[in-house]
Amino acid sequence: MIEIIGLEKTFVQPGGERVIALRGVDLLIKSGEFVTVIGMNGSGKSTLLNAVAGTFLPDAGTIRIGNIDVTRQPEFQRAALIGRVFQDPFKGTCPSMSVAENLRMAELRGVRRGLRVGLSHSSLERYHALLSGLKMRLEGRLQASMGTLSGGQRQAVTLLMATLRRPQLLLLDEHTAALDPRAADQIINITNQVVREHALTTLMVTHSMEQALEQGDRTIMMHRGEVLADLSGTEREGLNAGDLLQRFTELRYTIEFAVAKPPGG
Ligand SMILES: Nc1ncnc2c1ncn2[C@@H]1O[C@H](COP(=O)(O)OP(=O)(O)OP(=O)(O)O)[C@@H](O)[C@H]1O
Ligand SMILES: [Mg+2]
Repeated sequence: MIEIIGLEKTFVQPGGERVIALRGVDLLIKSGEFVTVIGMNGSGKSTLLNAVAGTFLPDAGTIRIGNIDVTRQPEFQRAALIGRVFQDPFKGTCPSMSVAENLRMAELRGVRRGLRVGLSHSSLERYHALLSGLKMRLEGRLQASMGTLSGGQRQAVTLLMATLRRPQLLLLDEHTAALDPRAADQIINITNQVVREHALTTLMVTHSMEQALEQGDRTIMMHRGEVLADLSGTEREGLNAGDLLQRFTELRYTIEFAVAKPPGG
């Protein structure tokens, strides 16, 4: 279970302008639930994921992962509970190291140095099997340096790295946005495969209305740092991308009108 209660974050821009990126976000995510997050540019989606990952401390609110209150924990400490994949396929891996070494590094994250062992034959066999399962022509590339892979192949390996230790929470921030449509589809399929196989609790940000509805069990819409809608079950099943867009527009006007309304008017 992930519990986010009253989460607030205001950024002060270099010019002194204050931007409220999260205004009291409440979100309960059940174990094994796969939640998609949608919203316009600047609506606070990445800020929500970054706050959960501990990139910065929130101004107010509580974040619990499982039974652990991580709100004040530094990023490295909660990293053991969290797997992340970003939009940029170059982030989160070491380009000069081989694919096998990157996987080993991810697997041993947080393990004391003295206990670390090199790449044994059995780990190489295990990685080979895992990579074959991705169907991205990666099984022959174990010894290739990470930097020589295509963007799609990199994201597939990054996804594997993020989930090797079965994190309590998987955070995906537009992890297919920088890929061509075919590679994006492949990565979405792999995401589903990995998330479902290990019943990973997942938050996935996407700009695609179709992806938001087709993937996962639940969709939240963010707007100006708030959760504007939270859709699941039969209500969500009956929606297509057009409905979602219309819903979003209506809700936005409702709150913007409410905000613009003069007192007593
Ligand atoms: N580190 C930061 N410093 C200053 N302002 C920030 C910082 N991070 C985010 N913001 C601001 O907070 C607001 C929310 O940004 P955020 O990145 O969460 O939006 P987003 O929904 O992920 O948008 P996008 O769809 O473009 O990725 C924006 O106005 C952004 O400029
Ligand atoms: Mg973002």
